[in-house]
Amino acid sequence: MDKFLIEGGRPLEGLIEVSGAKNSALPVLAAALLTDEPVVLEGIPPVRDIGTMQSLLAHCGARVAVDGTTVTVHAGDLPRPEAPYDVVKTMRASSLVLGPLCARTGRARVSMPGGCAIGARPINLHVNGLEQLGATLEQDHGYLEARAPGRLRGGLIHFDRITVTGTEDLMMAATLAEGETVLGNAAREPEVVDLAELLIKMGARIEGAGSSTIRIEGVTKLHGARHRIIPDRIEAGTFLIAAAATRGDLAVAGCVPEHLTALIAKLRQAGVAVEETAPDTLRVFGGARELNSVDIKTEEHPGFATDLQAQFMALMTQARGISFVTENIFENRFMHVQELVRMGANIRIEGRQAIVAGPRRLSGAEVIASDLRASASLVIAGLMADGETTLDRVYHIDRGYEKIEQKLCAVGARIRRVSGTLARSSEA
Ligand code: EPZ
Repeated sequence: MDKFLIEGGRPLEGLIEVSGAKNSALPVLAAALLTDEPVVLEGIPPVRDIGTMQSLLAHCGARVAVDGTTVTVHAGDLPRPEAPYDVVKTMRASSLVLGPLCARTGRARVSMPGGCAIGARPINLHVNGLEQLGATLEQDHGYLEARAPGRLRGGLIHFDRITVTGTEDLMMAATLAEGETVLGNAAREPEVVDLAELLIKMGARIEGAGSSTIRIEGVTKLHGARHRIIPDRIEAGTFLIAAAATRGDLAVAGCVPEHLTALIAKLRQAGVAVEETAPDTLRVFGGARELNSVDIKTEEHPGFATDLQAQFMALMTQARGISFVTENIFENRFMHVQELVRMGANIRIEGRQAIVAGPRRLSGAEVIASDLRASASLVIAGLMADGETTLDRVYHIDRGYEKIEQKLCAVGARIRRVSGTLARSSEA
């Protein structure tokens, strides 16, 4: 397993480019299953989860051609509408093929997602929604067997709680259902809007994406399309926080500032100077001024993103006073806390709240990544800490960040990737 050796104490300075959004790429790739014509997707980040999704589409029978960040998916025929366990166990977002396969082929066999580090993450809302559209789903030997003979029929789906991929899965299924489907209490994330834009280009009839109520009028067939996905707001936010944590002066280019309003507000509250220097560029600067402690509560978009909670907590270890970090989306998303404490942070967990007392100097240590965003938090901590931090199991971070060590080294960081199997290490 690869490790990162991170030398702390160096400010990030310069300009860093954001890649396409992993959490947009995953649903738009699944959407290509809805048509027998080629779909050309641009800006697809070459990260591990995307590779997994591409393999899954190929397993179903689609032809997948990758040319840099442009991916063409041609699902002319789908003889194997299934998502096997050995794929799903590495990526829970495989459930995104459930709706499209049901709608396109009338059946789907998708492995139930196993446990996940950050929480139980059931998919009951996906299942209930598909049943509302006329599918029958049974669980057998760890697999969901879905049947939708004939055609799905439109219906009213009200999500008991807001679910991002649940909204995306059912929106895709509804595009080919007979009649109108209404999704109530729908997710409002930018990735949902991005998916709707692709589906509309493919001939779907969708209104209200980005609001809590989405209306889909089913059509009999969708056609191919070309679409460039949105930039990754979580990657952009991670870099903004890293710049603040290292007291640097960093421009984050190729992002959408309006996707980051909650984070920008919290960074400013903490005393970080953040400005929009171009329509697609945010700059963090201001050097060594002291940070104020700030409370955050994670919420569905447009609230503070749960995917930025761990990173922001790392920053708050350097803020003066007490910061309350409340995680409302997942029940176990504090795996980074004990690792931060090992580096010297003063953090106590009480239920869904982590209480951070600062400022506390961090010292480099050997730490272990547990999930994608906890890994990002520990990279930020390593960039701040005195001395060297060894971060193990960096395959977690490779799932969602394209060449993160190369991007960070290009703006002043010192990170070396050491392959766990070989003594070889490559200067990033
Ligand atoms: C998406 O996951 C993202 N993944 C996650 O990003 C993100 O953290 C999450 O949304 C919340 O914003 C992708 O888009 C591929 P949810 P998703 O369904 O859709 C519960 C990352 O780091 N729930 O919105 O799986 C669930 O357990 C990843 O990039 C049910 O109870 O999240 C959670 O507590 C991590 N039943 C809450 O809802 C269901 O059927 C929100 O989950 C579905 C969800």
